[in-house]
Amino acid sequence: MDKLIIEGGVRLEGEIRIAGAKNSALPILAATLLTSDKVTICNLPHLFDITTMLELLGCMGVQPVIDEKLNVEVDSSTITDLSAPYELVKTMRASILVLGPLLAKHKRAEVALPGGCAIGSRPVNLHITALEAMGADIVVEDGYIKASVKDRLKGAHIFMDMVTVTGTENVMMAACLADGQTIIENAAREPEVVDLALCLIAMGADISGHGTDTIVINGVSDLHGCTYSVMPDRIETGTYLIAAAATRGKIKVKDTRPDILEAVLLKLEQAGADIKVGEDWISLDMHNQQPKAVSLRTAPYPAFPTDMQAQFTALNSIASGTGSITETVFENRFMHVHEMNRMGALIKVEGNTVIVEGAETLKGAPVMATDLRASASLIIAGLVASGETIVDRIYHIDRGYECIEEKLQLLGAKIRRIPS
Ligand code: UD1
Repeated sequence: MDKLIIEGGVRLEGEIRIAGAKNSALPILAATLLTSDKVTICNLPHLFDITTMLELLGCMGVQPVIDEKLNVEVDSSTITDLSAPYELVKTMRASILVLGPLLAKHKRAEVALPGGCAIGSRPVNLHITALEAMGADIVVEDGYIKASVKDRLKGAHIFMDMVTVTGTENVMMAACLADGQTIIENAAREPEVVDLALCLIAMGADISGHGTDTIVINGVSDLHGCTYSVMPDRIETGTYLIAAAATRGKIKVKDTRPDILEAVLLKLEQAGADIKVGEDWISLDMHNQQPKAVSLRTAPYPAFPTDMQAQFTALNSIASGTGSITETVFENRFMHVHEMNRMGALIKVEGNTVIVEGAETLKGAPVMATDLRASASLIIAGLVASGETIVDRIYHIDRGYECIEEKLQLLGAKIRRIPS
């Protein structure tokens, strides 16, 4: 397994470009199954999760074609197999996103039930009950969700018990081809849900209310092809800004969207960062000052994102003062804490809150990445620590961060990959 070796203590300085959003690209790739026409997707990030989704389409007999500009063209008219096998679902839970499109377009789907994962049990019951409310017959047997519908899915009034991002996306995609109107209440308002809705609208869907907690979809009989460019990745953006703040640096991130990062930018300003924004860029300058500890609580968008929680824990670990971080979206999302404490951080876990007392400095150590965002936080800790940090199991990071060591090197970091 590849490892990253980081020689800490360098202030990050410079400019980088942000890739397309993983969490938009995955549902948009799944949405291509809703039409037999060609769909061209631009600005796809080069990530392991995207490769997995392309592989999943390949397993179904759909062969995505990558052109010289790295745009992906998907023609799902060649589909032969309506199932998502466990081998792929176990490496990427977002494979569940093919359930709604397959059912709506082909009236049948078999998707392996995602198991537990490093950040909690993460059930998919809300996806299943919503699709049942739309007339699907669903049984869970032999580790698979086996779904079918006799004629066409029917529009339904759905109330989501919890705000679920992929759940909202699955139901929204299915509803596009259903008979009649679907209303999703307590829908996720995440920008990635909006990006998917905009792509579906470009394919001919009738959707309104995306970006609010009530999404209304009037089913149409067919969707058509389109060309769509995926929005920038707000979590990648935030991760580099936090890394720069932790190292007291000064960076500019380009090809991004400040308007969808408000909660994160506010916390960075509270930490002492001087932030400036343009339409598609954000700059951060710490004026070489130690960050101040911040307190925060994760919740669905527009509140502070759970996918940035671990990175802020790393920032607090070397900040002045004490900050508390409460995780309300996932259970068990503090695996990074124990590794950071091995580097000299002073973090206590109390239920779903961590209390982080800023330490004078961290010391490099061998650490183990446990999930995608936890891996990013350990890299940030390594960038500020004195001496060498070796981050093991970095396949997690390759799932969600494009060329992370190259981008950090561009900012001056001493980081390199040791292939296994
Ligand atoms: C998506 C993101 C992930 C992010 C998360 C929360 C993608 C591919 N992944 O994950 O990066 O961390 O949103 O912003 O977009 N839940 C249920 N039953 C369900 C579905 C969800 O109880 O059927 C619970 C989950 O256990 C969790 C909460 O709802 O506690 C939110 O999860 P959800 O929004 O569904 O996360 P994902 O869509 O899997």
